Amino acid sequence: MELVYKGKTKDVYKLEDGNVLLTFKDDVTGEDGVFDPGANTVGLTIEGAGQSGLRMTKFFFEKLAVKEIPTHYMDADIESATMTVKPATVFGKGLEVICRFRAVGSFLRRYGAYCEEGQPLDAFVEVTIKDDDRNDPPITKDALAQLGILTEDEYTVLVKLTKEISTVVKEELAAKGLELYDIKLEFGRDPEGNIMLIDEISGGNMRVYQDGVYVTPLDLEKLVLA
Ligand SMILES: Nc1ncnc2c1ncn2[C@@H]1O[C@H](COP(=O)(O)OP(=O)(O)OP(=O)(O)O)[C@@H](O)[C@H]1O
Ligand SMILES: [Mg+2]
Repeated sequence: MELVYKGKTKDVYKLEDGNVLLTFKDDVTGEDGVFDPGANTVGLTIEGAGQSGLRMTKFFFEKLAVKEIPTHYMDADIESATMTVKPATVFGKGLEVICRFRAVGSFLRRYGAYCEEGQPLDAFVEVTIKDDDRNDPPITKDALAQLGILTEDEYTVLVKLTKEISTVVKEELAAKGLELYDIKLEFGRDPEGNIMLIDEISGGNMRVYQDGVYVTPLDLEKLVLA
């Protein structure tokens, strides 16, 4: 197999049959040794973080499969921390789609003059472009269309899928006494050109609280899969 991309938390290989293999590493995003799901740098390495992230990802992608929500997921092997997925082409150089149920993180930093920390939000969706040098700036529907990254119809599908998927995750967590504050998803086009969820769904991509206290990704996996 051929290494096609070395990411911050995963490496990407092309398989001979045309599918893609993602390897989950023990690196997690953050700054100065402190985990931050929104960070664009590897902040720390935690033994077992890769397998833990994959266990969570497998759990949520299998829930989505039952609901017939389109994703790239095919199979996962926890032992080797690898996941086999359908190949995707991303929008532009890649987008991140965030769904927010409470005002924290960059939303609070930007709009703090108009909201309080932790204020409820109604599955608020926003899109950012993956651009580490420019700190993943938010982008509007109009800008996405003008720049030829996404059509208006595709934008509508993206927002609808994001709300559906985020609500599935929120409800799964709520059943375990956990509250989802926000989550970051990635989408791409499958070989037929249809939009599907790609990448991962793990503690590294979301903020979850238990009784008002933030739950770290590794603790989250233990609580969700217990
Ligand atoms: N089905 C797929 N086909 C092709 N590429 C994929 C697929 N699923 C995920 N990817 C890509 O694999 C890469 C995984 O790398 P990783 O998660 O380490 O993120 P990254 O690119 O370093 O950046 P970030 O931390 O901002 O997500 C991402 O670029 C992601 O878009
Ligand atoms: Mg990533």
